[in-house]
Amino acid sequence: MREKTSSQLWTGRFSEATDSFVEQFTASEHFDRRLFRHDIRGSIAHARMLHKIGVLSAAELDAIVNGLEAILTDIERGDFAWLPELEDVHMNIEKRLTDRIGDAGKKLHTGRSRNDQVATDVRLFLRDAIDEITAELVRFQRGLVELADRQAETIMPGFTHMQVAQPITFGHHMLAWYEMLVRDQERLADCRKRVNVMPLGSAALAGTSFPIDREFTARELGFERPSRNSLDAVSDRDFAIEFVSACALIMTHLSRMAEEMILWASPILGFIELPDRYCTGSSIMPQKKNPDVAELVRGKTARVHGHLVALNTLMKGQPLAYNRDNQEDKEPLFDTIDTVRDSLHAFADMVPNMQVHASRMYEAARKGFATATDLADYLVRKGVPFRDAHEIVGKAVRYGVEKDKDLSDMTLEELRQFSQTIDADVFTVLTLEGSVAARNHLGGTAPAQVRAQVALARERLAQFD
Ligand code: ARG
Repeated sequence: MREKTSSQLWTGRFSEATDSFVEQFTASEHFDRRLFRHDIRGSIAHARMLHKIGVLSAAELDAIVNGLEAILTDIERGDFAWLPELEDVHMNIEKRLTDRIGDAGKKLHTGRSRNDQVATDVRLFLRDAIDEITAELVRFQRGLVELADRQAETIMPGFTHMQVAQPITFGHHMLAWYEMLVRDQERLADCRKRVNVMPLGSAALAGTSFPIDREFTARELGFERPSRNSLDAVSDRDFAIEFVSACALIMTHLSRMAEEMILWASPILGFIELPDRYCTGSSIMPQKKNPDVAELVRGKTARVHGHLVALNTLMKGQPLAYNRDNQEDKEPLFDTIDTVRDSLHAFADMVPNMQVHASRMYEAARKGFATATDLADYLVRKGVPFRDAHEIVGKAVRYGVEKDKDLSDMTLEELRQFSQTIDADVFTVLTLEGSVAARNHLGGTAPAQVRAQVALARERLAQFD
């Protein structure tokens, strides 16, 4: 039988010590220590509230606040011995506080449980993480908008089914990415509202018999409001699932962007070149410049998607209220935060600094009969029904494939074999410039529309200065 040790904070009803394997198996301090700032912040607010309602004297409050602040400094300096036998961040800090200040430290946990404490810590932590991720999202958006402005007139092939479809402007493509990121930012802002609710005061599951002032604590911690149901508040991890879900979609977007950049950077297309400082070489093939950062972002998408499944699965079988299962929420959550923040950081630096090879894009757009729809639209404007126009242009394209000639390279006589309705004015619509300029309506690819959207985006982004 192992002797009970004095360091554990709940040994009163136990007659033997925890098995050493169990001690390690149940400990979370090696990962949840990341919550230390938020744990201390929550404890200080709780202590102030206990003083306000008369549970702590002014001297006790002072001792607790000074003690916690000293511990904060110690941890930040790396001068704190984390003990696995104290299980988690909460008990490591509380035990250290009591060691430092004596009995006042033992009063801190009045009217509180680790169940509402950990839920509060995680929400405070996540609120900061959302703000950091949002800042990276905004930085990336700004880079894309300025790139779009510089490349508003640059013509590239637009694809559907990865086949050349119609000419588009590169600026328009960059603004498509921007739109994805705007939705991501909105989702995070919406998620933040539900993160910003305070469980503290729910205690273990049923509330506490002390006359606590939860509005006071919520104000101290910057929460929107206290939670309304103690059972729900200690067990709920919806806010974490929502957050990881929003992040999974961010990663899906970054992964799609990565895929496009990887394709564009292949010498076969040669549309772009990624900055050297964001690429790596091959140990065997001297000519290689590999888009590893983009590939890794695409790869890291998998782990965030995995974390979303993990968290949903973690919760699906849990009865009310708190269960120890919930300790498993932290590693997926922390890794999601790190992965998304770093991926956004990388793209915010890399993407706006890619080199755009406009002539390669232009040549590719010329090769794929990208203005075929423009020719059909031209015929329609001259009175040909669209389905007939489609057929006529299809034949012209087949002829072009045989002769290896783009529509804009055919003579008027060649084109008139397919329809007598075609006149000399056709050549203005067959050029790539004419084609993109013609799509001049809200949402269209015309350079004028790109500029208009850039102006709106700049206005929107100014609010985050
Ligand atoms: N380390 C725990 C967690 O992360 C803290 C709460 C533990 N509560 C308990 N009654 N065992 O969830």
